[in-house]
Amino acid sequence: MGKYADVYAGWKQNPEAFWAEAAEAVDWTVAPKTVLDDSSAPLYRWFADGEANTCFNAVDRHVAAGRGDQAAIIHDSPVTDSKTTITYAELQDRVARLAGVLAEQGVVKGDRVIIYMPMIPEALEAMLACARIGAVHSVVFGGFAAHELAVRINDAAPKAVLSASCGIEGKRVIAYKPLLDDAIAQSEHKPDFCVILQRPQAEASMEEGRDLDWVASTSAAAPVGCTPVGGADPLYILYTSGTTGQPKGVVRHNGGHMVALLWTMKHLYNVQAGDVFWAASDVGWVVGHSYICYGPLLAGCTTMVFEGKPVGTPDPGTFWRVIEEHDVKVLFTAPTALRAIKREDPEAEYLKKYDLSGLQALFLAGERADPDTISWAQTHLRKPVIDHWWQTETGWAIAANPLGIEELPIKPGSPTVPMPGYEIDILDDAGHPVAPGTLGAIAIKLPLPPGTLPTLWNAEPRFRKSYLDTFQGYYETGDAGMKDEDGYVYIMARTDDVINVAGHRLSTGAMEEVLSAHPDIAECAVIGIGDKLKGQSPLGLVCLNAGAKRAEEDIQSECVKLVRQEIGPVAAFKQCIVIDALPKTRSGKILRGTMVAIADGTPWKMPATIDDPSVLDAISSRISGLGHPTS
Ligand code: COA
Ligand code: AMP
Repeated sequence: MGKYADVYAGWKQNPEAFWAEAAEAVDWTVAPKTVLDDSSAPLYRWFADGEANTCFNAVDRHVAAGRGDQAAIIHDSPVTDSKTTITYAELQDRVARLAGVLAEQGVVKGDRVIIYMPMIPEALEAMLACARIGAVHSVVFGGFAAHELAVRINDAAPKAVLSASCGIEGKRVIAYKPLLDDAIAQSEHKPDFCVILQRPQAEASMEEGRDLDWVASTSAAAPVGCTPVGGADPLYILYTSGTTGQPKGVVRHNGGHMVALLWTMKHLYNVQAGDVFWAASDVGWVVGHSYICYGPLLAGCTTMVFEGKPVGTPDPGTFWRVIEEHDVKVLFTAPTALRAIKREDPEAEYLKKYDLSGLQALFLAGERADPDTISWAQTHLRKPVIDHWWQTETGWAIAANPLGIEELPIKPGSPTVPMPGYEIDILDDAGHPVAPGTLGAIAIKLPLPPGTLPTLWNAEPRFRKSYLDTFQGYYETGDAGMKDEDGYVYIMARTDDVINVAGHRLSTGAMEEVLSAHPDIAECAVIGIGDKLKGQSPLGLVCLNAGAKRAEEDIQSECVKLVRQEIGPVAAFKQCIVIDALPKTRSGKILRGTMVAIADGTPWKMPATIDDPSVLDAISSRISGLGHPTS
């Protein structure tokens, strides 16, 4: 570890000087004088006295620098059989007009705007248009049901919603507008107006006086310029799963976000202006925010917006076709996507049909990358396959292999080493660092670097409680794992009730809240059991009220329907079992970990603290073997 060690040591020696230098990559209207404001520690703000505009840095400055004719966005959509390229100059015009629509309707700096859109360029334009006028966007993933959207509308209290008539899931057209109408009907807060992009696959009915047609209104609007905002003004809120049904609104500030993402584009992903960068994720997730939209555009790259799936649109060669056809230099996806491809094309016959010589590396994140999947990809791609670890909260990688600095030896099962900005300690329950090779809670020394969450929207006490209170002076990641003698980090499991299904972060607590509302259910638990494709999948265990007379099968299928209806198809909640009682400790804690081990067929011991061992014995026969963990 030569160069990386030097860079990391340089950061550690003088973090503020390190980030001040990184901040030179941003075009500020007012350069920040104070790098880190620690006057309210343990709450921190980066570049708070600087002023800049994120949209200007992501779009306008590239046009001004003569890159107007370069592709900014390539939309490749096998599900609609279309491909579109938007240059930086076109993007500037489209975004400025959409910002004009928002401004004409009264949206001003600091107002919130919800974006509920499929994987089309307009989703990025919506984000950028908000950034342009200093409005705070909150993108909601399309796979969430109306209720989840309503929860976010209530919390963010948006002035406007930007949406499209439909999304396309493989061969199915999913009408978004009825979900949006339902969400607005359910929410107490009502947006003033909605701008709806009509897609030909499903025409949405419009509500007179509230809904504007995207194309008509942007064509008529006057383009507006960029409003400078403070470095610590919010750019967006992204809701993510916590332990309850109320999602956490992760806040991202403008200044630190730009600085951090620009640093990663060069030093971590090793790309520069003109390169094609493809994050095969969705705009509704943090990966989509950081690396479909902002990161590549801030760096002047071409970003891919892919509307399809790794398999079935039309075959497991789609990813490789896109890489060849658009000369993708870096692909970033979730291990689940590779597992899906590997399952359909184990010998990688499709991959062999394409010229992937332009691909520099494959980056994986969002869930644990199992060594089998990594080695399959390495064997067939013959490129570095780099696992890196991060969270919605951090917005960029905590641990990675920084290709732009030095390619470190890869150890399958480890996302490599901490990035500058992050000092990672593995702590025991009392908060003391443990020896290398020992499992513990993964914590990061405060302050977190630029670009990470400064707080939770409308919920500072929850921010402190969730992340800062457990270990003094640290941010608690919610992940458990270890470090080895070389300082490589290993991420093993969550310490909370969050599960990861197909790289999607879900709350078992939220699913339990939905199940508890069923009139026949007295008590329930949802656990994440191993799934060979999706990493984990939820399993519901429900106990019925005394006297419940309906057939168990009916209740089980109602539970499945209820979670889909309330949380959405993304929850992938398909298994639910009625049991007599839940296994608990004497203090009443449900023994989730033991149930997961039984389902996954991994070794387990009867917990010494168990209240009634016969309960676990009874469940054991019902659930053992239901889980199929990846290696
Ligand atoms: N809008 C509406 N519905 C959506 C949706 C969206 N944007 N995204 C997913 N869904 C639906 C799916 O259609 C599916 O519905 P179904 O139960 O009716 O089949 C459900 O939500 C579950 O989706 P998913 O878990 O993604 O499963 P899948 O079977 O559709 O696809 C994979 C499986 C492996 C192909 C897919 O999960 C995948 O590509 N994963 C990569 C993960 C990823 O990019 N993660 C982002 C973090 S980096
Ligand atoms: P999200 O906020 O949706 O990005 O999910 C973050 C969580 O996903 C982390 O806290 C981890 O539990 C998990 N995760 C993300 N990347 C990795 C990785 N490379 N290896 C293991 N787990 C990961």
